[in-house]
Amino acid sequence: MKKLRCALVGATGLAGQQFVAALALHPWFELTGLAASARSAGKCYMEALRKPNGLSGWLLPEPLPSRIASMPVVEGEALDLGLFDLVFSAVEADVALALEPIYAQQLPVISTASAFRYGEDVPLLIPPINAEHSKLIEEQRQQRGFKGFVAPKPSCTALGLAMSLAPLVEAYGVKAVLMTSMQAISGAGRSPGVVALDIVQNIVPYIPKEEGKVAIETKKILGKRGEPHAMKVSCTCTRVPILEGHTASVFVSLERPATVEEVSQTMHAWKGAELSQKLPSAPVRWIEIMEDPFRPQVRLDRDMHAGMATIVGRVREDAVLENGFKYVFVSHNTKIGAAKGALLIAEMLYAQGLIGSSTNT
Ligand SMILES: NC(=O)c1ccc[n+]([C@@H]2O[C@H](COP(=O)([O-])OP(=O)(O)OC[C@H]3O[C@@H](n4cnc5c(N)ncnc54)[C@H](OP(=O)(O)O)[C@@H]3O)[C@@H](O)[C@H]2O)c1
Repeated sequence: MKKLRCALVGATGLAGQQFVAALALHPWFELTGLAASARSAGKCYMEALRKPNGLSGWLLPEPLPSRIASMPVVEGEALDLGLFDLVFSAVEADVALALEPIYAQQLPVISTASAFRYGEDVPLLIPPINAEHSKLIEEQRQQRGFKGFVAPKPSCTALGLAMSLAPLVEAYGVKAVLMTSMQAISGAGRSPGVVALDIVQNIVPYIPKEEGKVAIETKKILGKRGEPHAMKVSCTCTRVPILEGHTASVFVSLERPATVEEVSQTMHAWKGAELSQKLPSAPVRWIEIMEDPFRPQVRLDRDMHAGMATIVGRVREDAVLENGFKYVFVSHNTKIGAAKGALLIAEMLYAQGLIGSSTNT
């Protein structure tokens, strides 16, 4: 099979590096173009990553593939779109707002940025949950005159929350959700990122714009296409001194009563949309339930199923909320929460014929 040619914009960033690693041996997609800011343009990837003091900027434990290390990096505006079948975008929202519509004129754009997440003609896809929301793409093309489209992935925190809620929505209905997140510093990226002096031995109780994003996105993901779910969502998002992996404490009020065993079993057995189970990046199980009350622990559990699982533990009844339950989850913010979650969307859209067919690109 001929692989689809992919450009990666924001290739030098935290999410960008995760894309490089995830695409290295991908069966359907091949990374053939790299872009970043003017600071990196004109250098090979390895040199674009390097810090002014000479430190290599490659942050992942796996080695940087040599083919990619020597690839040239161009400026985002300078990408020759005729050379690619799709674009992965991993830039900040303000940059995405300017660049992604330019790419989408011609190509499918799968984005980790928030710039287009809230448009009514933009699906917020998590393949096991809402694969049929991709029908919005045709509407987007007609309304915006795109030959391609923009398909953003949800925020890394909304993603973990929505994954843990999806089986409960399906089985019992969900009325209300209260969540407090403990988010890793890598979630803030590197430009400017979180300063060590602010976060070491500390918890910062506010992440600008995050709580509103989580509430809106969770309802959009779990709702019907074009109609947000009616559940109430309230959250507090905090930054903690953890490198990778978000932890959250969730309280949920169900529409119908259930037992702890039923709730745990429903989450554990949840398979999601059939199409999503066959995608190359799909884990063997979307949700793992841990019985040990000391788990999940972010350092031990974030990489389960290659960072693609939502790990849930401490499932208990809650006596304050009606039909109340509470639990803790861990979700990998730069893997399923960013690059690999975006890759999963691309795989689904390819399987649905929305990427890669000559009529669409
Ligand atoms: N980190 C996470 O856990 C996570 C999770 C979910 C979603 N996201 C989202 O993913 C996006 C990227 O996040 P990140 O954490 O990877 O950020 P980051 O580490 O700060 O990286 C930003 C990237 O954008 C590039 N860039 C900056 N200005 C540009 C321009 N004008 N044209 C082209 N490229 C430009 C940078 O290139 P230079 O190196 O040349 O400056 C760098 O490659 C953000 O929208 C973020 O909200 C991140």
